[in-house]
Amino acid sequence: METINDYMMKDHQVIDGFFERAEEAAKAADFATLEREANEFLTRIAVHIDVEDRLLFAAFEERTGMAQAGPSVTMREEHREMEPIFDAMREAVAARDAAGYLSAAAQLVQILTPHNQKEETMMYPMIDDAMGPDTRALLDEAKASMTA
Ligand SMILES: [Fe+2]
Ligand SMILES: [Fe+2]
Repeated sequence: METINDYMMKDHQVIDGFFERAEEAAKAADFATLEREANEFLTRIAVHIDVEDRLLFAAFEERTGMAQAGPSVTMREEHREMEPIFDAMREAVAARDAAGYLSAAAQLVQILTPHNQKEETMMYPMIDDAMGPDTRALLDEAKASMTA
């Protein structure tokens, strides 16, 4: 059976692909590609984070009662830390500021890479465990939000 971890890990990989292509485009000052890949990255990661905050972490917190402290609280805090960096990336794309984009992207990686690792090795497996047989229903809900 597909787990939350399988599905969300794949989404990390897809999102990373857009991030890497945007970064290459910024280095090459290829603004058409930067605009396309960076905007796709920013759109997809916003949806991904929304699904985590609103569905997956919420379900985990409801199941375990760990809503005040715990792994999902830390993951939510890291999402909030990333959001102003997404804004800086979006602004740099609009301004065709390749150096500004690369500097924001480098800042993001510092948070995003360990964040995704923590989700894949700890957070998502804990959600799968907590949900047990209800994993399927939660996964279906997540998928519906991802493609909407
Ligand atoms: Fe996350
Ligand atoms: Fe994630």
